[in-house]
Amino acid sequence: MQIRTVATTPFTDQKPGTSGLRKRVPTFLQAHYLENFVQSIFDTISVPQGATLVLGGDGRYYNREAIQIILKMAAASGFTRVLVGRGGILSTPAASCLIRKYRTHGGIILSASHNPGGPDGDFGIKFNTENGGPAPEKITEAIFAASKKISQYHIADSADVELDRTGDYEIGEMTVSVIDPVEAYAELMESLFDFAAIRTLLKGGFRIKFDAMHAVTGPYAREIFVNRLGAPSTRYWRSQPFAGEGAMRPRHGAAEPTGAGVAASADSVMNAIPLPDFGGGHPDPNLTYAHELVEILYGDNAPDFGAASDGDGDRNMILGKHFFITPSDSLAILAANAHLVPGYQQGLAGIARSMPTSAAADRVAKALGIPCYETPTGWKFFGNLMDAGKVTLCGEESFGTGSDHIREKDGLWAVLFWLNILAVRRQSVEAITREHWAQYGRNVYSRHDYEDIPSDAANGVMKLLHDSFAELQGAQFGHLQVKLCDDFSYTDPVDGSVSTGQGVRIIFTDGSRIVFRLSGTGTGGATLRIYLESYEPDISKHHLDAQQSLATLIGIALQISELRKRTRRERPTVIT
Ligand code: G1P
Ligand code: ZN
Repeated sequence: MQIRTVATTPFTDQKPGTSGLRKRVPTFLQAHYLENFVQSIFDTISVPQGATLVLGGDGRYYNREAIQIILKMAAASGFTRVLVGRGGILSTPAASCLIRKYRTHGGIILSASHNPGGPDGDFGIKFNTENGGPAPEKITEAIFAASKKISQYHIADSADVELDRTGDYEIGEMTVSVIDPVEAYAELMESLFDFAAIRTLLKGGFRIKFDAMHAVTGPYAREIFVNRLGAPSTRYWRSQPFAGEGAMRPRHGAAEPTGAGVAASADSVMNAIPLPDFGGGHPDPNLTYAHELVEILYGDNAPDFGAASDGDGDRNMILGKHFFITPSDSLAILAANAHLVPGYQQGLAGIARSMPTSAAADRVAKALGIPCYETPTGWKFFGNLMDAGKVTLCGEESFGTGSDHIREKDGLWAVLFWLNILAVRRQSVEAITREHWAQYGRNVYSRHDYEDIPSDAANGVMKLLHDSFAELQGAQFGHLQVKLCDDFSYTDPVDGSVSTGQGVRIIFTDGSRIVFRLSGTGTGGATLRIYLESYEPDISKHHLDAQQSLATLIGIALQISELRKRTRRERPTVIT
């Protein structure tokens, strides 16, 4: 095999964000852009002899081309084997599962998660370490440092690998094993949840609807919900073989039924074929972007349970019939009911949540007598806690929930966890949630996102807040008094590393909170997130709309941030 060494010059913008390097597709299409970053990863992790790499992505535009490049670079960098999902497909949780199962030297996941795809959309790349989790900051910083001084990269001169057929292929000395992207993951799910009980629930007429949002979870959902759990499916799906060549794309020009037909149909899985542009949608499972599913769950003759996942399969949204459950509440309810689920019957070591996530889980942890950790935003901060056996369940308000079964958040896992609880308790999602609030009180919660605002305006808001800390301390707003305001910093209890500047917190004496944070995953302008939380112990107020209950806090947030004046935005882009 011929290895080519190519001279290159650094790009200055290859700093990984909350979750890997994300840029617009045209940025990634610049000559050497992807190669520089991949070489920076390989130079940083120094590939040991005999090392295996996991490789796959969410199927978005440029996925296949990027995989061919990375395979050739892996061969040139001394990997012995690469495990790649058929069709170039691997959900983020499935990649984490494979890294752990086969004890590989980490993996590369190609995804920009919930960001739109297509030629004008986003692309992304992230490196996960041997524990299956996102590389911690010290590694991402080293990769960034390497990217700033790179002068050459190495790539094998070889033909493209056939990605659509499982089997082993050679690039020089390196073996490329094209594997089924679903099997190992589906087996892991079967080992954690009571599939027989869920099957009985579904057989009894409990109706579910899962929206894969034209992204990576389609094939996973079809295998797990339809093939293994017996959820109803239309003939269309049965005629679409899952395994085999080209399985990730409609065969013979067949298009998935769309529109009203799908919504009304008895099919349990919708939008289940991964498309390079996610059907032009925004594959983010929330009330705004997953509106197709929301309309079904809030419509006439709604199913009993609805769920959606994002571009790369690590997020989840859970809906009941005419009912939305916040991710923060979902984490708390999973923790409170974990004893009903086989994989968690032995008890939880602890729970971790990101700082902006509501404190609902803290109350459950307290009742269970287990610790609850508060980490900065981003899944990478949970890894050490899980590796050290300190926590079992983790969650973020941003529709991310997971456990120590892998080292990523896991959308389908959360759906199965809920289905397992529902199969045991035989109550509705709403009834379970209301009972939970009655027992623990309700942490009323909402997040307001102002997307794509000018960076200067966003930075100005954050600076104003910082400059107001002294003045805000102890300030009175109606019946609310500020107890503490700061910029959250975190000291990792396992390795002692410190992360600063993780979000401005304004905490009131009654426990209510406002948090301001700038997104670290956006690719255009800046996204400012405002997180709002108050605690309502009074059961007679649990039915109130969250926006209504949080109105005072929302008013304070707008006032102290001068947000409307500075951004000229009248309302948030997305409310969750
Ligand atoms: C967002 C979420 C965060 C999540 C990340 C990756 O990051 O807020 O919780 O871990 O996406 O899915 P942000 O854009 O806020 O930096
Ligand atoms: Zn994601």
